[in-house]
Amino acid sequence: MKSLYLELVKKVVNNYIYLGTNSAACDREYYSYPSWLLPRTCLPHTLCNDQQLLVLEKIMEYIHLEKIEGDFIEVGVWRGGACIFMKAFLKEYDSKRDIWLADTFSGIPISSNKYEYKEDVVDNWKDRWEANKEEVLTHFERYGLLDNRIHFLEGDVSNTLISPPFNKIALARLDVDSYESYTNALEGIFPHMTKGGCIIFDDWHLDSCQKAVEDFIKKHNLELTIQHEFMGAQGEAFLIV
Ligand SMILES: C[S@@+](CC[C@H](N)C(=O)[O-])C[C@H]1O[C@@H](n2cnc3c(N)ncnc32)[C@H](O)[C@@H]1O
Repeated sequence: MKSLYLELVKKVVNNYIYLGTNSAACDREYYSYPSWLLPRTCLPHTLCNDQQLLVLEKIMEYIHLEKIEGDFIEVGVWRGGACIFMKAFLKEYDSKRDIWLADTFSGIPISSNKYEYKEDVVDNWKDRWEANKEEVLTHFERYGLLDNRIHFLEGDVSNTLISPPFNKIALARLDVDSYESYTNALEGIFPHMTKGGCIIFDDWHLDSCQKAVEDFIKKHNLELTIQHEFMGAQGEAFLIV
């Protein structure tokens, strides 16, 4: 059954409810087009547009209905809105899963020279998408969704996911932009993925993300097929493990 609560949370986390007002400073195109083109006066709690939130919701529904065991994690949280929507979903379905929020909480770091993939365009971005942990905590509190099932993994994923404190993961939403961060995130999370679980790649529009995922699949000889939910500038790609 369609939940009015979840429909409303989706519209709040991405500023849809402010459409047409100065505080949103967004036009309708934003909700179905690239969110990184947002004017800086528009600060939603997530960069996910309506289609991306719908994909996330459908995948959570699938995991819930199929009873895929494990927690949820987002790697690359920014202001927390996608995780807030995940928590709202778990609350709506009275689910006991935990959510892990992995981020530097100080923006996108510059890549090291560790990998062969050089000159990541992400390293030239002026905007590093900084948001600190206190900000994210405050957002969770405002929605009334902060509890002891929300966990923060603060720091670069090259450190925080080496020996992570979680056990099984049913859903991983990756949104860390660079080749290096995607590679480190996959190396850290993949061994914890439950069979039937899902990894969403928010940045499939970036060469760095596609290359990191393809290299990871090749390196580990995985027989997995990338699936696409909708095409276009910010088409969501995902894998069922
Ligand atoms: C584009 S934002 C994520 C947007 C967010 N998922 C949303 O729904 O709005 C990218 C985030 O990834 C984080 N990030 C990038 N590289 C990282 C790394 N190596 N380790 C931890 N966090 C990283 C940044 O700090 C930033 O918060």
